[in-house]
Amino acid sequence: MKPTPAILLLSSLFLSLSSTISDAEIFPGATLSALIPTQFWSSPDNTFALRFITDKTTSFVAITYNNIIIWKAGGATSNGGAADPTASLQFLQDGNLRVVNGSTGSVVWQSGTAGRGVSSASLENSGNFILKNGNVSVWSSFDNPSDTILPSQNFTFNNTLRSGLYDFRLLNNGTLTLRWNSTIVYWNSGLNSSVATNLSSPSIGLQPIGTLSLFDSTISVPVDIVYSSDYGTSDVFRFVKLDSDGNLRIYSSTGGSGTQYVRWAAVSDQCQIFGYCGDLGVCSYKNLNPVCGCPSRNFDLVDPKDGRKGCKRKVELENCAGTETMLQLNNTKFLTYPPELSSQIFSAGLSGCMGNCLASGACIASTLLADGTGTCYQKMPGFVSGYQSPALPSSSFVKVCPPVLNNPPDSSGKGSKLHAWIVAVVVIGTILGLVMVEGGLWCWCFRNSPKLGAMSSQYALLEYASGAPVQFSYKELQRATKGFKEQLGAGGFGAVYKGILANRSVAAVKQLEGIEQGEKQFRMEVATISSTHHLNLVRLIGFCSEGRHRLLVYEFMKNGSLDNFVFKREDQSEIVSGRRNYEVSRETNSKMFSLWAYEEFEKSNTGAIVDKRLSSHEVDMEQVIRAIQVSFWCIQEQPSLRPMMGKVVQMLEGIVEIEKPPAPKAATEGPLSRAIANLSSGGSALSISAASEPARSLSSSFQTAGISSYLQAEDVNKLSSSSYQPRRIKSYRQTSALLKQEQQVQFAGSIS
Ligand SMILES: *[C@@H]1O[C@H](CO)[C@@H](O)[C@H](O)[C@H]1NC(C)=O
Ligand SMILES: *[C@@H]1O[C@H](CO)[C@@H](O)[C@H](O)[C@H]1NC(C)=O
Ligand SMILES: *[C@@H]1O[C@H](CO)[C@@H](O)[C@H](O)[C@H]1NC(C)=O
Ligand SMILES: *[C@@H]1O[C@H](CO)[C@@H](O)[C@H](O)[C@H]1NC(C)=O
Ligand SMILES: *[C@@H]1O[C@H](CO)[C@@H](O)[C@H](O)[C@H]1NC(C)=O
Ligand SMILES: *[C@@H]1O[C@H](CO)[C@@H](O)[C@H](O)[C@H]1NC(C)=O
Ligand SMILES: *[C@@H]1O[C@H](CO)[C@@H](O)[C@H](O)[C@H]1NC(C)=O
Ligand SMILES: *[C@@H]1O[C@H](CO)[C@@H](O)[C@H](O)[C@H]1NC(C)=O
Ligand SMILES: *[C@@H]1O[C@H](CO)[C@@H](O)[C@H](O)[C@H]1NC(C)=O
Repeated sequence: MKPTPAILLLSSLFLSLSSTISDAEIFPGATLSALIPTQFWSSPDNTFALRFITDKTTSFVAITYNNIIIWKAGGATSNGGAADPTASLQFLQDGNLRVVNGSTGSVVWQSGTAGRGVSSASLENSGNFILKNGNVSVWSSFDNPSDTILPSQNFTFNNTLRSGLYDFRLLNNGTLTLRWNSTIVYWNSGLNSSVATNLSSPSIGLQPIGTLSLFDSTISVPVDIVYSSDYGTSDVFRFVKLDSDGNLRIYSSTGGSGTQYVRWAAVSDQCQIFGYCGDLGVCSYKNLNPVCGCPSRNFDLVDPKDGRKGCKRKVELENCAGTETMLQLNNTKFLTYPPELSSQIFSAGLSGCMGNCLASGACIASTLLADGTGTCYQKMPGFVSGYQSPALPSSSFVKVCPPVLNNPPDSSGKGSKLHAWIVAVVVIGTILGLVMVEGGLWCWCFRNSPKLGAMSSQYALLEYASGAPVQFSYKELQRATKGFKEQLGAGGFGAVYKGILANRSVAAVKQLEGIEQGEKQFRMEVATISSTHHLNLVRLIGFCSEGRHRLLVYEFMKNGSLDNFVFKREDQSEIVSGRRNYEVSRETNSKMFSLWAYEEFEKSNTGAIVDKRLSSHEVDMEQVIRAIQVSFWCIQEQPSLRPMMGKVVQMLEGIVEIEKPPAPKAATEGPLSRAIANLSSGGSALSISAASEPARSLSSSFQTAGISSYLQAEDVNKLSSSSYQPRRIKSYRQTSALLKQEQQVQFAGSIS
């Protein structure tokens, strides 16, 4: 629909009438009205605006950046700053700034700066709105944040972000905390204690490159505490926000679109956030998204339209017809954080944990951690926050009136029937809507190419383009790879096949083997991988998790494996040493390269490791040492020891200190040795571990922790300094090349 000339005329009339002030200063007497949406006070460069945001029943005053609300008068708490649609913002002669309801004239919010000599106000290019006495700030939106921190905003230990019942604070020892209802601390992130002890008045700020850093007069260089996943890129508008779901996130927004991308989240597992699903609500995951339900059909959702409001009993305990009983919830825990942790612990078995609660009048629920400690937490009336996942090793009990009405297995309708009905309608409506939009787009895009018109593809346009990983069925991938025919290569976790997706893009499909991971863990992993963006990483298009099948679908690299680059082109010096792991050479005393390199590294003889072809160039030894240390971390046998990609980049760039890497694990006992017997010395280093064994499992660190089949570092050194012992060697994934790591670090080379 095109705007009619009349509307255009009208709005330009408003524009010229309204007191839009683009030069910095605003003086007492100025007002804004919620009735005139075109009226606002803007920053000199027009990026930020202070204005009313109005809907049918309410309005509030906000500072916005491309429609992103970065500050709200009255805060982001429920009803904070809610005014009526005829409200006005008044900058009074006495220096007070206030929001007043139009219908009643009652004050909704005020700055409280009357009588403090405020003579002007301005919205700065930084997004800070300041009330000034001459040129001294008396009040500012940066000092009184609502739920957002902007770059150049100084967030001190006196400040608090609030969103609903959640708050975010910086403690005076530099610890960041997230709390629920000002009591339950469900997340905190402390500093290295040697830094923390002597802070005087710490503050944090979001740096232009995308780190959240801590400042204090006692430390000379700001300490980086958080890195956004796109840190390093400039020309991005970033902000830190405490969202209404209780998570603290860093967002990026590029261009004028107002689209936001999450670049970091404090709590990666949303269901761990206390109170997310309300009182007696149970959080679980459905297709990577947290959903809220009730413990059983003895409960109803408080608000069928909004699961986050929690659950209520159908029959209150005091009205029980019979005696109370305990509902058992498998794979469920009730979140317990400080200060509740200390008061309510005791050890008990399953029946003890249940029976003690049943017998105690005050107890309404209990949780037994099946983590070997036998810890049982008892829950008192107040607020109980549940989390259910097949991967959770704990059982919980809730006191209910009989009879116990368990949720149907694999329940989609965890709430009431009405809830399910609404969900169904919404889902069907959304699907129909999407189909129509997609169909429209499809027809529009390909109206000139009838050949393609007939091709349907659910991921062709919307999902694939959005960048979110797509879930494929096993059948689809089987079809795409023509029954896993064309193998591109094999890595430590399984073989990689070439495939052609329904939208005709070429993909590399990696079939993970021996992954004992649960569905949820795998999905979390996928979420993590797909949220890690880096220039040199292949993009994860999608995944498949079906039965025991676990597959990852990557963008296909035309140029082939990084391996080819590194080893085939003579003039390449992307790696430090230029040798393969299994190349038996006199230089390495016929030892496995990584073992030999570690020995030399231990002897501080780094020069020996460096590729001789590099010696003609000027070599920065500090960089080399860093690269070598990172390499040793990346080739750790246990996936859990290997650093995440972000950390690798930080280590390579020298932003974080690198701890001394453990020795490459050399040997294990048993059947593994067979894998090695097939090795030919010049063979592809890459395919070796494909023939090996359980350590491939992503959860191997759990499984083998008790068995301790790995040797200690000393043993390795003893071993390797004696002689090359092929029968005891396990699986080496790579050379000293910087850039090799399966699974956690998804480099171009590692998938083909
Ligand atoms: C102002 O109006 C809004 C919307 O009608 C209402 O929610 C709010 O309570 C009112 N505030 C005061 C202080 O009367
Ligand atoms: C503030 O104004 C006073 C006089 O009006 C001037 O001397 C001073 O330098 C100004 N300060 C700043 C930071 O601009
Ligand atoms: C932040 O504000 C505090 C208090 O106003 C001040 O002491 C500190 O120097 C400021 N920090 C930065 C980095 O501006
Ligand atoms: C923090 O607040 C206290 C009192 O509320 C005040 O004395 C102190 O100056 C404030 N510190 C900073 C850095 O703003
Ligand atoms: C939050 O805490 C206050 C007292 O500290 C309590 O009255 C209130 O009920 C709590 N809110 C919820 C939702 O439990
Ligand atoms: C803590 O920081 C200090 C100074 O930056 C550093 O020397 C020390 O090794 C760090 N300690 C730990 C445990 O990281
Ligand atoms: C910081 O203070 C909080 C609360 O006083 C405490 O729980 C935490 O352990 C302290 N952190 C450090 C690193 O000292
Ligand atoms: C740091 O604090 C400790 C006590 O907490 C004190 O003994 C020490 O002198 C302080 N160091 C500095 C450099 O202020
Ligand atoms: C919970 O687990 C127990 C023991 O494994 C089993 O008897 C019970 O049926 C399970 N309950 C539900 C609701 O699945």
